[in-house]
Amino acid sequence: MSDDTGGSKVLEAVEAVRAKARGLMEATADRKALDDVRVALLGRKGELTAILKGMKDLAESERRKVGEAANALKGWIEEAIGSRLAELSRSEAEGAAGAPSGGPAPFDVTLPGTGRPAGSIHPVTAMRRKVEGIFAGMGFMVVDGPELESEFHNFVALNIPETHPARDMQDTFWCDDGQCLRTHTSPVQVRALIRYGAPIRMIAPGRCFRNESIDASHENTFFQVEGMMVDSEVSVANLIHVMKAMLSEVFGMDVDVRLRPGYFPFVEPGFELDMRCSICGGQGCPTCKRSGWVELVPCGMVHPNVLRHSGVDPDRFSGFAFGLGLTRLAMMSYRIGDIRVFNSGDLRALAGLGSASPQAV
Ligand code: DAH
Repeated sequence: MSDDTGGSKVLEAVEAVRAKARGLMEATADRKALDDVRVALLGRKGELTAILKGMKDLAESERRKVGEAANALKGWIEEAIGSRLAELSRSEAEGAAGAPSGGPAPFDVTLPGTGRPAGSIHPVTAMRRKVEGIFAGMGFMVVDGPELESEFHNFVALNIPETHPARDMQDTFWCDDGQCLRTHTSPVQVRALIRYGAPIRMIAPGRCFRNESIDASHENTFFQVEGMMVDSEVSVANLIHVMKAMLSEVFGMDVDVRLRPGYFPFVEPGFELDMRCSICGGQGCPTCKRSGWVELVPCGMVHPNVLRHSGVDPDRFSGFAFGLGLTRLAMMSYRIGDIRVFNSGDLRALAGLGSASPQAV
C-alpha cells in the first residue's frame, strides 16, 4: 500500500514555485519589486513558507523528501535573489552616472584610460631618416627608384654588360618579362642623372633583393643608400670628406676613415672605405676582427661609361658614388647580431630600438 499522504502533490507544488519564482525575478525592474518577490515567496505568508508549514501533515517518509526539495528551493531562491540584486545595483549605478536627461551614460574622465601601447620606428627606418637628414644638410636631394628594375638600369648602364662576370656577384631574381628585382640601389644613380642631369648631389635609400641563402648575416631583402655627387671638379678628396662627415654624424663622434682599393664595374677607381674601430680605438678586437678597422662603405669615382649611359659628358663632369649598407649600418649601430630580425616583425627585438641612439662601432 502506498503511504502517499499528498507528498507527490507537494513536490509538484515545489517545482511550480520554482518556475514562478524564476519568472517573477526576471521581471523585476528594481530593488523594491525584488523585495516584493522575496516576501511573496519566502515571507511569513509566502508560498514556500506555506509549503514548509504544510509538511507536518505528511507521512514521515514523505516529509523527508519534500523537506529536502523545499529547502533546496529555498536556497536556490535566496541565491537567485542575491544575483538579481547585484544585477539591479549595477544597472542602477550606471543609470545614476548617466545624464539626468536619460542620454548616453557619460564616462568618468578621472579613470585611467585603457591606452594602446605606442609603436616604435623600425631601426632601418630610423637609420634611413638619420642618414637622409645628414645628406640633406649637405645639399643632397633624396630620390626614389623602382624596386622592379630594368636590366638596363640595374646592369647595362652601370657598366655591367650581359656577358660581364660581375653579374655573378649578385644572384638576381629575374621576372619573365626581363625585368628584375633590383640587386642594389645603384640603378637610381642612372635614373637621377638621366632625369636631372649634372651637376647633381643625390642619395637614394631603398630596398634591394638578392637570391641569398638566409642566415644571420645574409638576407634576400635588405636596404642600401646609394649616393652620388657629380660636378665639374669632384675628386676623391670630396668623397673622403663627405663620407667622414656623414659617419661622424651617424655615430656622434669624430671618425677616422681610410680607403682601400675595391672593384665595382661602375666606378674607377673603386674603393672600400673603412672606419677606425671605436670599440678598441684601432688596437684590434673581435668586432673589427683584430684589424683595427671596420669595412663600411664601398665607393669610388663614377665610371665614364656610367656618365655616358646617363647622357652626361665625362669630359665635362666627374663624380663620386657610394653604396651604404643601411641594414648593415643599423645592425652595427643598434648592436643587432642577426639580420633576420629586421624582416621578422619580432617586437622583442625591434620594439624601442629605432628611438635609441645609435652606438659607435
Ligand atoms: N652597388 C654595390 C653593391 O650593392 C655597392 C656600391 C659600390 C655602390 C660602389 C656604389 C659604389 O655606388 O660606388 O654591391
